[in-house]
Amino acid sequence: MPPGNNRSGIFSHFVKSSARSSAVFIIFIILLVGALVSTRLLDTTTFLGSLASKPLLSSGTRAAGIPKKPRQQIEIPLNCSAFDLTRTCPTNYPTTTEEDPASTITSETTCPDYFRWIHEDLKPWAHTGITWEMVSRARRTANFRLVVVKGRAYLEKFRNFGTREIFTLWGILQLLRKYPGKVPDFDLMFDCNDWPIIKSSDYSGPNAMIPPPLFRYCKDAETLDIVFPDWSFWGWPEINIKSWVPLLNDLMEGNKRMKWDKREPYAYWKGNPVVALTRQDLLKCNVSEKQDWGARVFAQDWGREAQQGYKQSDLANQCIHRFKIYIEGSAWSVSEKYILACDSVTLLVKPRYYDFFTRNLEPMHHYWPIKDDDKCRSIKHAVDWGNSHQQEAQAIGKAASEFIREELKIDYVYDYMFHLLTEYSKLLRYKPTVPGKAVELCSETMACPAEGLEKQFMMESMMKGPSLTSPCTMPPPYDPASLFALISKKENSINQVDEMEKNFWKTQN
Ligand SMILES: *[C@@H]1O[C@H](CO)[C@@H](O)[C@H](O)[C@H]1NC(C)=O
Ligand SMILES: *[C@@H]1O[C@H](CO)[C@@H](O)[C@H](O)[C@H]1NC(C)=O
Repeated sequence: MPPGNNRSGIFSHFVKSSARSSAVFIIFIILLVGALVSTRLLDTTTFLGSLASKPLLSSGTRAAGIPKKPRQQIEIPLNCSAFDLTRTCPTNYPTTTEEDPASTITSETTCPDYFRWIHEDLKPWAHTGITWEMVSRARRTANFRLVVVKGRAYLEKFRNFGTREIFTLWGILQLLRKYPGKVPDFDLMFDCNDWPIIKSSDYSGPNAMIPPPLFRYCKDAETLDIVFPDWSFWGWPEINIKSWVPLLNDLMEGNKRMKWDKREPYAYWKGNPVVALTRQDLLKCNVSEKQDWGARVFAQDWGREAQQGYKQSDLANQCIHRFKIYIEGSAWSVSEKYILACDSVTLLVKPRYYDFFTRNLEPMHHYWPIKDDDKCRSIKHAVDWGNSHQQEAQAIGKAASEFIREELKIDYVYDYMFHLLTEYSKLLRYKPTVPGKAVELCSETMACPAEGLEKQFMMESMMKGPSLTSPCTMPPPYDPASLFALISKKENSINQVDEMEKNFWKTQN
């Protein structure tokens, strides 16, 4: 007898009888479902789904094994009628965030490389930490002090700075709405003026004091101010620049309207030349009867623009030249991101200042470097090169606008603020408490009384509710070798352009 014969017989019997009873059961189910569906008692998928593990007819509960639906974005609108009654900040905003398990963006996503500069910017305090004594020394020039305790913001104002201050604070309040329960307590001084002022030479050498930590929008190689995203990401009502999300959309749409090779083969600049000598120097490169350096430069007259409803200064309609010049004003200029977003080759006049995202821009990859002390000849060479190397030139334009679209999207602006404030907060050697003279600040206290464009931009840039995704993961600090490599790579490409320029002018004469 072959082994297992007997067993197989028993087995086949069991299968048959079990199949028979299943068939009866299934017919019963089909009839039942038919009855229920026809009387619209149940939604079929819920019902069949629950067969697996739930008793029949316990409808309404979703069975295990069905993929979870993506979490819904909770929207928490401003309630200004409630604010008008109480004049206080609401207490019912969520204090935690729940992440969406179905989200494709997770905390596994590493932040862009420029976040690595957060470590560099905070290095002066890495070993000592930050004491109240140091923070209080930053007050001398600060426009405001902002303290966040348990997710609520408290403002102590020293000097008004209109839009800059308003929209910077608005941005931080939106960060609190985006990541409730995640932003740690902090206490900081913020200076809204253009120029960095904490000179590193004042804080070096034996017995030197520890520098005061002061937040502002830009710095240079000689200063230790801490760079923070500027107000324009949330709007600039005075000159009709809307907040970053709608503006970036407009710019990207504008790029589609005119392909690079159809654009004017010149280098365009429009701005206020009065604010800096270097800009007045740039005006000399404008086309004239005697010379054409390939530049078309225009002086912005904000008074006239305002009268004409800013029709001439719509940024999305300014991407019609193959080359666009970026030149600093009295310090860094908020226009850099708008220029880089154009799909045009950015001709970047050697900058002195940098803001939070510009330190990883690579010459020859994201922009074309222009000499500061020989602008016209440098521009002429760049324009000539680009018009005769159209593929390469377009690639530079594309790399820059991609950088702006992908790495400078608003989520990363918030994440930069989040990580900077988190790292800063880790350094604090005291527990931030609500200052006696501070007033509580929230989106309601700012937006409810606001009017006109200010209100419009606030509503457009308001975080609707807690984010479903976590902040990106902070990249590690640069080690000295990689920082050195980054800087020398940059210098090498600039020197390479220098050489090309020299050769170009040799053959021209
Ligand atoms: C706003 O708050 C008031 C008073 O608390 C409440 O009656 C009203 O329903 C709220 N409105 C919205 C849209 O939540
Ligand atoms: C530059 O030249 C153009 C064309 O001649 C002219 O329209 C423009 O006003 C000039 N710009 C300045 C700042 O003079």
